[in-house]
Amino acid sequence: MCGIVGYIGHQNAYPIILNGLRRLEYRGYDSAGIALYDGENIQMCKTKGKVDDLSAKVNAEMATAGNLGIGHTRWATHGVPNDVNSHPHVSNSGDLVIIHNGIIENYTTLKKELVKRGYTFHSDTDTEVLVNLIEEIKKQENVKLGKAVQIALNQVVGAYAIALFDRNKPDEIVVAKLGSPLAIGIGEGEFFVASDATPFIEFTNNAIYLEDGEMAIIRLGREIAVRRIANDERVDPSIHELQLNLEQIEKGGYDHFMLKEIYEQPSVIKDTYRGRLLPNEGIVRLGGLEDHLEKFANANRIIIIACGTSWHAGLVSEYIFEEWARVPVEVEYASEFRYRNPIITEKDVVIAISQSGETADTLEAVKLAKRKGAFVYGVCNVVGSSISRETHSGTYTHAGPEIGVASTKAFTTQITVLTLMALRIAKVKGTMSHSDYMMHLRELELIPTKVAQALKTNDHIKAVAREFKDVSNFLYLGRGYNFPVALEGALKLKEISYIHAEGYPAAEMKHGPIALIDENMPVVVIAVNSNHYEKVVSNIQEIKSRNGRIIAVVTEGDTTVTEIADYVMEVPKTPEALTPLVTTIPLQLLSYHIAVMLNRNVDQPRNLAKSVTVE
Ligand code: AGP
Repeated sequence: MCGIVGYIGHQNAYPIILNGLRRLEYRGYDSAGIALYDGENIQMCKTKGKVDDLSAKVNAEMATAGNLGIGHTRWATHGVPNDVNSHPHVSNSGDLVIIHNGIIENYTTLKKELVKRGYTFHSDTDTEVLVNLIEEIKKQENVKLGKAVQIALNQVVGAYAIALFDRNKPDEIVVAKLGSPLAIGIGEGEFFVASDATPFIEFTNNAIYLEDGEMAIIRLGREIAVRRIANDERVDPSIHELQLNLEQIEKGGYDHFMLKEIYEQPSVIKDTYRGRLLPNEGIVRLGGLEDHLEKFANANRIIIIACGTSWHAGLVSEYIFEEWARVPVEVEYASEFRYRNPIITEKDVVIAISQSGETADTLEAVKLAKRKGAFVYGVCNVVGSSISRETHSGTYTHAGPEIGVASTKAFTTQITVLTLMALRIAKVKGTMSHSDYMMHLRELELIPTKVAQALKTNDHIKAVAREFKDVSNFLYLGRGYNFPVALEGALKLKEISYIHAEGYPAAEMKHGPIALIDENMPVVVIAVNSNHYEKVVSNIQEIKSRNGRIIAVVTEGDTTVTEIADYVMEVPKTPEALTPLVTTIPLQLLSYHIAVMLNRNVDQPRNLAKSVTVE
């Protein structure tokens, strides 16, 4: 998730774009850049680091270059954060310059063809391929920039919000959108383009939000021409008069980043499997895994090291890897692993899971595992982070920046990557029937829709939260794949509401915790379709007979648990191994609403940091 900003009008473009980038830094902040038209050429400055690092490098001449420009603050997905991979990117001729938020899945194929035609590339990005594809089409077809963009985008597979201009036509900016947000601000004799309205809300509150598959040619002194990319059909855009303030826009209109990130899960799960899950071809393809499949297929053991929510994601994957790939898995707290002098051999494969990629305990555990000869694979969200650089290879989640301290979309995108890995390894080992493999490929592709469906129960969950906001303790119970989800649900509640909560395997109740049950101890039970369902029903009855109050997460349409639980939260039916991706949703929302009702600082709870870079 990156931030894009563009300006064309009667003002000096630089300060507007720079300030706009600062407002979009919450979307991505590992590198930044700006390109300005100076009346003849394109002046460009870009750098690894934050927008402040960029502004420190822009000279006075560039800062007053002119009235047309584009800027970008990056959250890397292809190519590590460095100056060269930063946006904007210029075409080989130097005429075209582009910024891009999204992922072009087929960029390697497009790049090979362009190289054959003599194009050279300086970065590792998919974006540089796109701007040269547009240049090649513009030259070959002898068409204007807008037409070349339209033809090029019909050859592209992926997601994008782009803005670009041609130094030979400095009275227009061309923009296009598919899968990533893009807003156009309409001022008096000036236009703004941005990922959201924060960069231009102080200049105008009139905005057009392009729909997926639309592009626009923005010309000074002319009406904006909006068209459908697929067929060039003209679109009559609606102009919105924005009533939001800055802070509300940064949070996408949500009250907290945590709620925004909970609601981003359908799109970021799709971004995470985009280009990697190909059900029609019946394949899973993970760039970082393909060259190391034999290590995983022949591994004696997979050791997963992580902390907190990432450890819970690892625990979910233990059940999946063992069930599908038939490989023994051990899930270790990194903080324990690194001090335990663990026995590791070169036949062991280690997976390090970390959203930030900077957790000190996990980083040190990775180094220890490497010293002991293990192959270490990373599942991180931040490209170029310390852990991602320390591991031998890895797969990035494409969750975008997670601002809320409580991990939500990190959890579901980590599970998505781990599920893809288990499918890929099972396929190589032949440990999964073809029908089972194909069924799970197709069902995984449906998860974003099912998560979106689970999110629709938000109002009901808020009502349940109101019943329990004043309790002092909670128990969370789950079995099998949902035992780790019970742990994660308990962690979410305690870290943002400060209510004590414990997660347990449901069957463990008889071995002590049931002594805690009375009318003051609410119990959240994950009771969805599973091989354990009847046993979970018995657990619920044991609790009810001791006056415990039950909040059950059930599969929609459930008629058994619904009869005995005090409250139910429904999730769509999905194969048992994929249920953690949906059962966690009501638990995230329950914790969020209880914390809000208790007036907690939801995005920055007391005593916590987003990334624990100290030991
Ligand atoms: C979870 O909500 C917490 N933010 C915390 O447990 C977190 O998951 C843990 O610190 C690990 O962080 P990482 O994924 O960035 O390594």
